[in-house]
Amino acid sequence: MTGLAEIAGIGADPRRGGYSRHGFDRADLALREWFTAQARRRGLDVECDRNGNLWAWWGRPGDGAVVTGSHLDSVPGGGAFDGPLGVVSALEAVDLLRERGFTPGRPLAVVVFAEEEGGRFGVACLGSRLLTGSLPPETALRLSDSDGVTLAEALRAAGINPTRVGRDDAALARIGTFVELHVEQGRGLVDLAAPVGVARSILAHGRWRLTFTGEGNHAGATLMVDRRDPMVAAAQVVVAARRAALAVEGARATVGRIVPNPGGTNAIPSTVDIWLDARADDDARTRAVVADITAAAEAAAVDEGCAVTVTQESYGDKVVFDPALRDEVAAALGGVPVLPTGAGHDAGILAAHVPTAMLFVRNPTGISHAPEEFAEPADCAAGVAALADVLAHLAR
Ligand code: GLV
Ligand code: MN
Ligand code: MN
Ligand code: MN
Repeated sequence: MTGLAEIAGIGADPRRGGYSRHGFDRADLALREWFTAQARRRGLDVECDRNGNLWAWWGRPGDGAVVTGSHLDSVPGGGAFDGPLGVVSALEAVDLLRERGFTPGRPLAVVVFAEEEGGRFGVACLGSRLLTGSLPPETALRLSDSDGVTLAEALRAAGINPTRVGRDDAALARIGTFVELHVEQGRGLVDLAAPVGVARSILAHGRWRLTFTGEGNHAGATLMVDRRDPMVAAAQVVVAARRAALAVEGARATVGRIVPNPGGTNAIPSTVDIWLDARADDDARTRAVVADITAAAEAAAVDEGCAVTVTQESYGDKVVFDPALRDEVAAALGGVPVLPTGAGHDAGILAAHVPTAMLFVRNPTGISHAPEEFAEPADCAAGVAALADVLAHLAR
């Protein structure tokens, strides 16, 4: 896809592989500039809302708009498709609709949501959560990245006034319907031999930080019996997460990030932060998995003479997309498959406020949040055509 090729050099991460593009960092700002230029080239009017989300309007911004888009940021060392495919496809769908001579009967907009992955400030779907009011602005503005830069500071540096961040009813009221196209993050469409599908649901999911505090000391001079090592306690959480998730049908629990402080090879850390991502088919199951892991963490801390605190950093209950809209979209595409996903999306946040649907494009690797994430050019083209059909149907 031309758009993906154009941004291929932005935010590439030679150390991790893949891309590291995080909310309002250098790569993200370059991507936002690229998007703005692409939208303007198409004669779309671009605006940045109070929460740092970008909107490109075909027609006058107004109520009842058909909105499509996704995000441009990535996880650390992520793939090229998670996020950007939805944005690039939205722009190409506008091109296709114009080639077909289509004139929207309602305003149409392409949106880029800020910091969807939470790769910099820790909270997923930051832009859409702020827009919808599901994250209090005072909490958000205090979030900080690994260098201690707060969201308030990052916004200000990007030219966005942090004092205006927060629930934006005017921006929300303009959305009549939201449709997000996304690369599939699994092998559902591969197994069904279909290039495009429609989303049914998103697992309940959240992120928790566990901070273990022990006693920093010398790796050689401290006898094993004299240690209070928070890394040993944290290690139990990794194993407990696997055990707890296996005990609940369909649940998943992951520890993908551990930060020891101070982080010297020859020092017992004084503290260890460990992040848990837990998901399951509903709120109760997700909470049960997390309660199980928390209990294991507390027992491990006691065993090791350490303390532990557990903080929920973000959470979203299970999402079932509007069944009528879902069926309408699937029918408009000639009866494509409808499938669930374990991944979170801005569409999942929007779904609590406006009729929302998602399209998935087949991913032959089934891999995501890793450089191997992929979609064949022919499937990407099928995705653009499907999105154009859906937009034409909704904005007729
Ligand atoms: C975001 O992509 C998530 O599901 O974590
Ligand atoms: Mn993602
Ligand atoms: Mn995504
Ligand atoms: Mn996501």
